[in-house]
Amino acid sequence: MKEMKVLTDLDRPCAFVPTMGALHAGHQSLIQRAREICDEVVVSVFINPLQFEDEEDLAKYPRTPERDFELAREAGATVLWRPEYETIYPTEITRLSAGALGTKFEGVHRPGHFDGVLTVVNRLFEIVKPRFAIFGEKDFQQLFLINQMATQLHPEIEIVPAPTIRESTGLAMSSRNVRLSTEGRSAADVISAVLRKAAEEESLDAAQKKLNEVTNEPRFTLDYAEIIDEDTFEIATNESLKRRAIVAGWIDGVRLIDNMAMKSALVRV
Ligand code: PAF
Repeated sequence: MKEMKVLTDLDRPCAFVPTMGALHAGHQSLIQRAREICDEVVVSVFINPLQFEDEEDLAKYPRTPERDFELAREAGATVLWRPEYETIYPTEITRLSAGALGTKFEGVHRPGHFDGVLTVVNRLFEIVKPRFAIFGEKDFQQLFLINQMATQLHPEIEIVPAPTIRESTGLAMSSRNVRLSTEGRSAADVISAVLRKAAEEESLDAAQKKLNEVTNEPRFTLDYAEIIDEDTFEIATNESLKRRAIVAGWIDGVRLIDNMAMKSALVRV
């Protein structure tokens, strides 16, 4: 695998996996998916300051450059790109807005976060010019907003969603999990447990009740636990064909998010 400073010698279509580093098996599954659809797989590692609303969170974000190289290579990446700040953000850049949805759910607690995500992904797309870009379903709101942005600004790029990869306990893999204590890690299993229970329920009310059980875990501080319509990202109604439960909160001062498709809705599609 080659390291690239500039992407001038990529003359073939590529599949692109943007990351902020601290790679784990979840990222590797994105890279493997990319490799299934393209011979050339570019993985970027860029910790984007614009999407951190909190300086401390940015400072604490794990940085594991050697391991990133190893895991990316092992998963089948052909290029690892670690752009300089100035490459992504020269003096004049187009700042994108995530609009109204950018202020809901994750956006309530992370003001400006999605504006920062869309701004950096747009810049990365402009530079890499991929044919495909792979994003995990774990950050479902991010995936939804990137899909909208790409449809408008980069219709030539196909956004490929990839399923969430979980620990054997059910915990969704995340670069932030390393900051959980042993007790926090086992408490965090409550999130996937309530999601699995909610996903089995036929009615929205019953599913919401199951989701609310996440508050029974004393170490967990809830931000939101909702069922949304996947097509609109509004709160789901009985008319919603594709529904997804989304949960976010805090354990040990670490923010955790997860989501799951509702089975009953899948049957109705
Ligand atoms: O999901 C992430 O790791 C980041 O939000 C992304 C898409 C790489 C943009 O910085």
